[in-house]
Amino acid sequence: MKEYPSLELQIEQFARLIHVSKKIVVFTGAGVSTESGIPDFRSPDGIWTKYDPEDFTYQRFISSKEARKKMYSLLGESGLMADAEPNNAHLAIAELGKMGKLDCVITQNVDGLHQKAGNSDDKVFELHGNMVWVICLGCNKRYPMGDIVDKVKQGEDDPGCEECGGILKPDAVFFGEALPQIELNEATGYSANCDLFIVIGSSLVVYPAAYMPTYAVNAGAKLVLINREPTHMDRAAHIRIYEGAGDTMKKVMEKVKEKPVK
Ligand code: APR
Repeated sequence: MKEYPSLELQIEQFARLIHVSKKIVVFTGAGVSTESGIPDFRSPDGIWTKYDPEDFTYQRFISSKEARKKMYSLLGESGLMADAEPNNAHLAIAELGKMGKLDCVITQNVDGLHQKAGNSDDKVFELHGNMVWVICLGCNKRYPMGDIVDKVKQGEDDPGCEECGGILKPDAVFFGEALPQIELNEATGYSANCDLFIVIGSSLVVYPAAYMPTYAVNAGAKLVLINREPTHMDRAAHIRIYEGAGDTMKKVMEKVKEKPVK
């Protein structure tokens, strides 16, 4: 029977890795935000168990008023737009940033919680865009997402651009839409040049984002996975922790701060 190291030992090893690493990249998925009240996608009660991802393709969104209505009701219901607060995992990642130990955060999330926790904007690469802004597909005018969700809540079921009447689309990347090229290039570069790659709360099933840990491992980086469920990268991980992101990252940072950080 294979003996797994105790959680305490894994936390010790993880903290030691953070101490000795020079170029650390943190990669997050929806699992880092569930403790802030934002559901993830593929857990048993995740968003894709309630909504059909087919309704959220780019084509469907721009061609059907119904699909746009569904998007705004999803936003309203799933708390993606509620004033979610960063949790202990976000705060720990921000602390790593403040220690100067972090090259960057690569996130698939659109909730803006890493920036809200204190990671500097230029060090957070949002591969799937964000739900903070809505962009007019006609004239590129930007609106705060909250203003549009409020209009929908007040009964406007397909608010258009005030300037040109164009379709308004959240600044998030929909299925079938290209990822933002600059963020993708930056994330790829950092992943292929780090010495420690930490994955927190992702099932690693959506590409090209899910290539990032592979780039890191292929470049010789050590991989740490914190995820409640197994992923296809488990065997490549130096440390594998199946516990909650918030509690784990809080414990790791307490251990890191026990010794002076170089
Ligand atoms: N602590 C640790 N792991 C957690 C926690 C938690 N508190 N909560 C959830 N998880 C794990 C789940 O077990 C799951 O494996 O986080 C993972 C989240 O996986 P997904 O729901 O698939 O989310 P993600 O990997 O970010 O999805 C990628 O898919 O639908 C698209 O665009 C969407 O960006 C998203 C992409």
